Amino acid sequence: MSKNKKTLKIAIAGLGTVGAGVVKILENNKDMITSRTGRVIEIVAVSASNRSRDRGIDISGYDWADNALDFASRDDVEIVVELIGGSDGVAASLAKQSLAAGKSFVTANKALIAHHGFALAQTAQDHNAALKFEAAVAGGIPIIKSIGEGLAANNLTRLCGILNGTTNYMLTQMEATGKDYSEILEETKLLGYLEADPSLDLDGIDAGHKLAILSSVAFGVKTDFANVYMEGIRRIKLVDIEYAKELGYRIKLLGIASISDAGLEQRVHPCLVPNAAPIAHVDDGFNAVVVEGDFVGRTFFEGRGAGEGPTASAVVADIIDIARGHNGPAFFIPCHDMKDVPAASISNRYGPYYIRLHVEEKPGVIADITAALRDKNVSLHIMLQKGSEQDGSVYVVMVTHEVREKDVMTALDQINALSSVIDKALAIRIENL
Ligand code: HSE
Repeated sequence: MSKNKKTLKIAIAGLGTVGAGVVKILENNKDMITSRTGRVIEIVAVSASNRSRDRGIDISGYDWADNALDFASRDDVEIVVELIGGSDGVAASLAKQSLAAGKSFVTANKALIAHHGFALAQTAQDHNAALKFEAAVAGGIPIIKSIGEGLAANNLTRLCGILNGTTNYMLTQMEATGKDYSEILEETKLLGYLEADPSLDLDGIDAGHKLAILSSVAFGVKTDFANVYMEGIRRIKLVDIEYAKELGYRIKLLGIASISDAGLEQRVHPCLVPNAAPIAHVDDGFNAVVVEGDFVGRTFFEGRGAGEGPTASAVVADIIDIARGHNGPAFFIPCHDMKDVPAASISNRYGPYYIRLHVEEKPGVIADITAALRDKNVSLHIMLQKGSEQDGSVYVVMVTHEVREKDVMTALDQINALSSVIDKALAIRIENL
């Protein structure tokens, strides 16, 4: 099968879970990939922090490099595959040097592309090299390609998604087991699901990286991670999940991006989503993305957001694309056409809010709370209070009508200053998807 097919030589930097998966796919599916691309894809060199670790793959046939940066200057290497991670350091140097040397660069590194996507795309364009990062967003879901190619006929103005599998797993487990956040966090740590820096998952930063990349692909804007609003799941309590359920919602950490005359809106935060919305039922480590186009309407993608197989599948798809000669612009439009769009402030969001208060149970507390809301014109739709806790405190849950974010937050600042408030009020945005 491989006779007369031109060999395409690649080097892989990083042999963790995903790197090992890439090696397995390229070896196991070699003949099929050769017939699909017309090229024999050959791994010629690898690099990792530990040469002797057992990864379940045989790397004895590949050159070993102590320094991955050597790949950028190897004449025989056409594609450098970076699976090291991190927005800067070796990964960023390898990207810049490889692209500047005219080599194609494939990465699963969301932080790298979120921080340096536009600059790297420019370097790639200047040197006629391909830059591909399908695996950086939503693991095995081919969302970059779907937006950049499959939906290319549409004007896209809004997208949203569950972009972090770890936090989706945690929220799902809280609901399924009735355990509180701290207990589920410990269990999730033991399973090894959290990033080396857990803040990336828990504070919405990982989802923010992915959202910034999706915005660029969908809207043709320069990657602008610095202006992504991010709020994670640390303040979600079991009581919120239970109240949300009673109100007909589920809590999901969503990334939401839109472009309009108000600017580029990019936000990651927990949301109440109606039970009837398909995204409300995307559970555990799964990711989902909803993209709306002016002609196609609403599209919905779901799949595994992380792990060896799904992520390696996306990396190899990028290698296959390059082998087939699909070397177009990284963000599907030339860099000089990518727009600089001012950021829209989250304080202008207009919509309903779920508010949870933990207060002392005594006369006048509700009157003080509603007075603060009245002063900012925040109108209530639902108010729930069910008995009191053993310590005599009480949870009060409210759902507002549609209001401006800055008005709700100002009212909550006033409420938080009341002596009867035990725990800072939590507001969760309701998104009627
Ligand atoms: N920490 C990420 C997640 C890994 O949980 O989705 C995949 O990018």
